[in-house]
Amino acid sequence: MRCDTIITGGTVVNANKTEKADVAIRGEKIAAVGKGLAKRVTGDGVRVIDAAGCYVIPGGVDVHVHLALPFCGTTSSDDYNSGTRAAARGGVTTVIDFAIPYGDDTLRQAVDNWTAKADGIACVDYAFHLAITNWDKQKKELSRMIELGIPTFKQFMIYEAEGWQSDDAAMFQALEAMRDLGGMLMVHAESSRVLDELIARHHNKKEMKQHGAYMHAITRPNFIEAEAIRRAVTWAEATGGKLYVVHMSTGEGADIIACARRHGAKNVFAETCAQYLALDDSVFKGKDGHLYATCPQVKKPADQARLWSALKDGTVCTIATDTCTFTRKQKAAWKGDWTKIPMGMPGLETMLPVVYSEGVLKKRLTMRQFVDKCCRAPAKIMGLGHRKGAIKRGLDADIAIIHPSKKIKVDWRKMETNADWSPYQGRSLAGFARTTLSRGRVVVDKYKFCGENGWGEFLPRKTPGQV
Ligand code: URP
Ligand code: ZN
Ligand code: ZN
Repeated sequence: MRCDTIITGGTVVNANKTEKADVAIRGEKIAAVGKGLAKRVTGDGVRVIDAAGCYVIPGGVDVHVHLALPFCGTTSSDDYNSGTRAAARGGVTTVIDFAIPYGDDTLRQAVDNWTAKADGIACVDYAFHLAITNWDKQKKELSRMIELGIPTFKQFMIYEAEGWQSDDAAMFQALEAMRDLGGMLMVHAESSRVLDELIARHHNKKEMKQHGAYMHAITRPNFIEAEAIRRAVTWAEATGGKLYVVHMSTGEGADIIACARRHGAKNVFAETCAQYLALDDSVFKGKDGHLYATCPQVKKPADQARLWSALKDGTVCTIATDTCTFTRKQKAAWKGDWTKIPMGMPGLETMLPVVYSEGVLKKRLTMRQFVDKCCRAPAKIMGLGHRKGAIKRGLDADIAIIHPSKKIKVDWRKMETNADWSPYQGRSLAGFARTTLSRGRVVVDKYKFCGENGWGEFLPRKTPGQV
């Protein structure tokens, strides 16, 4: 068998199978997976990667990132270069960002803007979802966008000030369109009017002085997310359109999704993010509490526990990061007022280590479930299962090799992200990629990035909403 690279002696973990096997790579694709391949390989200068004692898993697929996003009066500081370098170092080989129209932009213009951000500098493969910010103007473009390989759309139930918010009529009609066109609607589910009321009610000097960044948690009780999820699920059940709830952070949200699916709504899906599994809202009480502000915010330990069990029982199908990096300087814009904090955190470089360490090592997930939630399911549900998310002959050779127990202390100074802090600073985590391959090319070796600017390609996608 002719090949360019062979990964030998590792334990190959797919979502459906764990096996001791070699992986042969020809060009950008996986040529074979099996025992004893090393002996059968021919070809000049075959690169041999020794994975003895390590797991060999599909590259992570993070379907929720915001790179170079203009937001909260600034721009998120990981762009397509630092963001995808961070991804590679974390073993993530595919990212999906949200192209968002600004002002009167069409969906097409949003795609062009986001293509310009990524072109020539991305180091791993990428795709876009499209935000629908003006249903009446943008609805006519949906089928053309699907033809271009962008079959997933997003509506925000908050962010009126950004010009992004959609109302129920727009969501209802978008779900009908998803049903008719074979797309999938993603929603940021938080209840805007009650949230605005709670923020207004508590927006005073006395409480801000007393609670600091913890005001973010005080003004976003769990029902803010739960009510919005319930409403979006109602419209999905009524229309039959596919709905994917992004960054679900509450136990109540998990209960609503579980209930809907139990009652037959198999068109309803949910994602959670690593931060909701590994952090709780006590972080807002610390000295740098404002750094952790993100929407929705991290919740209570009880929510974490429910989200872990919802991953295990299949209610939550994917784990992502919602990476939206802001530096200390950017976050300092808050000056004691939580409503002025740029919302978002870095996450790409630590997603697999956090979920592996908190999930697999703490026996909340099996190794195969870890691969399912971080690799297979996100690829498949976003219409990328024909290329990503599994170590299988014919698929892209996107692979992460991780040591089962070697721990690395998280230190932002040694990371690829542009962030000058980390939500996990000082934590010792296993699950960092010793080696990462992107379409057959080694982009991380000995835990260090060694990839190439512009290597990452745009990925047109097929029908979403299948698991
Ligand atoms: O706080 C966050 N998550 N920032 C990014 C925008 C969003 O809501 O996903
Ligand atoms: Zn969001
Ligand atoms: Zn987001």
